[in-house]
Amino acid sequence: MGFNLSPDKITLRQPDDWHVHFRDGAMLGSVVAPTARVFRRAIVMPNLSPPITCIKAATNYRERIMQAVPEGIPFTPLMTAYLTDDLLPEVLEKGYRDGVFAAAKLYPANSTTNSAMGVSDMGSIYSTFETMERIGMPLLIHGEVTDKDVDIFDREAVFIERHLEPLLKSYPDLRVVLEHITTEHAVQFVEASGSLIAATITPHHLHINRNAMFSGGLRSDFYCLPVAKREHHRLALRRAATSGKPCFFLGTDSAPHPRSSKESSCGCAGIFSAPFALESYAEVFDQEGALDRLEAFASEFGPIFYGLPLNSDSITLKRHKHVVPDTFTSSQPITPDQGLIPFHARESLSWRVVENG
Ligand code: NCD
Ligand code: ZN
Repeated sequence: MGFNLSPDKITLRQPDDWHVHFRDGAMLGSVVAPTARVFRRAIVMPNLSPPITCIKAATNYRERIMQAVPEGIPFTPLMTAYLTDDLLPEVLEKGYRDGVFAAAKLYPANSTTNSAMGVSDMGSIYSTFETMERIGMPLLIHGEVTDKDVDIFDREAVFIERHLEPLLKSYPDLRVVLEHITTEHAVQFVEASGSLIAATITPHHLHINRNAMFSGGLRSDFYCLPVAKREHHRLALRRAATSGKPCFFLGTDSAPHPRSSKESSCGCAGIFSAPFALESYAEVFDQEGALDRLEAFASEFGPIFYGLPLNSDSITLKRHKHVVPDTFTSSQPITPDQGLIPFHARESLSWRVVENG
């Protein structure tokens, strides 16, 4: 009540990122810091090569992530298991009960980066869904079909119809996050589902439509999966994110790739949004006159869905126009030819994170 809709400063409960890719090795050393400086927790994607398919791999990876967190910064990585055709439900159950796995991630085989070992037939892992439903473990879904005869811009909508609807009918108590939604169909589907179904929304899908990939040439920096869609879908996502509905919450899908992998004849999908992610969301909420709803989207609806406590620290953003650098600089630089391009490179943003705590 009485929230000033064009304040110069906003203080939020510290947010969490419910979908991030940290990679491994030298890249991991560089990309954890920008997330940990702003977000208190993050759901870490398991699509490494090889993927995280057992408890030991998850605890080792969590250890490597913690080594990359700058000193003195409290940060908790929440680990996920990568579902394959033959990952045993008992492993998931043990990992979840032991507090190692916060959730399991379903990549339809060959849907995106490092998903070749993903699930080739959802029908064959129904005992896994049964276990997850019974223990209340969230299922995180990359919701796209992979059939070559389905147009790439329709793959999310077709996945919902062909796979998600039947899955939820069979397992009505399964907790599902439809990750990085990109279409009006997904928005409507999630809104119409019960409180066990939620969706994450990325900053890039709130800012760009599919034209961005072709503006003035082929712009691989804007290529990600699911691919950005038409303008009316972007507008539906902006309405959803700023709606104040608890089924939509923050997940950046920050997905760094070395420059050489983005700028190649077969470039990788993924947008590195971590460095200015909260600023990017703030821009959208400000433009939509909904800054008063940013805190719930960024800091409340995610933990409520996952059944975790809300963070107690706060973070402040100030209205301050600044230009995003054209490359990401890290205190632990990865080799120069791996230079990472942050989302919004060379664009100006109106908000800046100023303090933590
Ligand atoms: C992600 C990646 O690079 O790991 N890429 C992407 O475009 N989002 C994988 C994913 O989340 O689809
Ligand atoms: Zn992702």
